[in-house]
Amino acid sequence: MPAAAYKIRIKLENKLMQKKFEKIISQIPDFITQDDEDFERTDLMIIELSKDPNLTFELMQTLLNNYEVGEIFLSSDSIDHNILTKARWAGAREFFGPNTEESEIKSALERFVLRQAKARAEDAPVKEGQVISVMGSKGGVGVTTIAVNLAVSLAAKEHNKAVALLDMKLFGDVHLFMEIEPSYTWMEITKNIPLMDASFLKSILTSAPSGVHVLPSPAYLPTHNMATPEKIERLFKVMSQMFDFIVVDMGHVLNQTTLKILEVSDRVFLVAVQNFPCMAKIHMMQRTFRDLGYPAREDIHIILNGYVKKANIDIEDVKKSLGQEVFWTIPKDYLTTISAINEGQPLAKIAPKKGITKSFKELAQLLINEPEERKR
Ligand SMILES: Nc1ncnc2c1ncn2[C@@H]1O[C@H](COP(=O)(O)OP(=O)(O)OP(=O)(O)O)[C@@H](O)[C@H]1O
Ligand SMILES: [Mg+2]
Repeated sequence: MPAAAYKIRIKLENKLMQKKFEKIISQIPDFITQDDEDFERTDLMIIELSKDPNLTFELMQTLLNNYEVGEIFLSSDSIDHNILTKARWAGAREFFGPNTEESEIKSALERFVLRQAKARAEDAPVKEGQVISVMGSKGGVGVTTIAVNLAVSLAAKEHNKAVALLDMKLFGDVHLFMEIEPSYTWMEITKNIPLMDASFLKSILTSAPSGVHVLPSPAYLPTHNMATPEKIERLFKVMSQMFDFIVVDMGHVLNQTTLKILEVSDRVFLVAVQNFPCMAKIHMMQRTFRDLGYPAREDIHIILNGYVKKANIDIEDVKKSLGQEVFWTIPKDYLTTISAINEGQPLAKIAPKKGITKSFKELAQLLINEPEERKR
């Protein structure tokens, strides 16, 4: 899709007019025509004045007020001055009658492109956030501990970074680790995908005292409004414009949703502990990722959690077995981690001086320093 592509939806009863618009639009490279399966926000909608014009005006106002549509052009078989005025009040940007020339339609579309280009330049997203997925090689290896404490360390005051934490594990417990009572989960997002923009997301995310913006997982099995790959893509697109870092608790299951998140991730932290079943599972995941073609090998980082120097499997063994370096180790400290979980507080709050907390701080610092180097 070209960078400046505008999504257009044409909904006309008058098939001749519909064809006329489609033909003109096909000649302008800035437009992409949306079909009914495409739930993304529409930049420009062309509709027809119905027999009851007030119905059309109401619909237009709803679409525009809910940000489902950027602009609306109106087409009608007859032109009445009164109606024209009302249509303008309802938000119609251009009005086409039965005798409107093709050249006039083309000029109206070009004016739209100019307006939009100006608007996009004015509020171009300032951020290009990094998506970090934390994925377990097995259950219970410390994914939530890592996702929560990494997010909190990234959001520490001294860094001044905007950080979001998403719990994409079914029946996940991120909110319990942070003692927050969220009103919404990612279910609300997937229900309202056409409305999704930064202001909608802000109203849905729960702010934790640490400054992290949390999107928890639903407490029941969603049978509809699932987080489909298309919805996930849209969610992460909007989030990466709002936040510097988006940390995701992925659990340890590969499914349609987690695979899509891996695809849009800048980094994937594969969490293991020092045992053979974990090594075997990471091996399988590495092969799966190679076959899929993503995530790229250089974006996959092995994190050894609960690390102890004197173990049957040491860092060198891991490196040999997996064919890649261990990116980070987090020391073993069961007592501190379980106290943090039971108090519903991040490690930085209950044990700021412990080695494990320091490890998260240093990892956050590395990630904050590194994006520029990675880009280079
Ligand atoms: N570095 C560590 N040292 C010792 N124990 C740890 C460490 N990290 C996590 N744990 C402990 O491991 C247990 C599981 O942690 P956590 O819930 O973070 O894992 P998980 O991978 O998210 O589990 P699940 O698969 O159930 O979501 C907790 O009891 C926690 O205290
Ligand atoms: Mg977990």
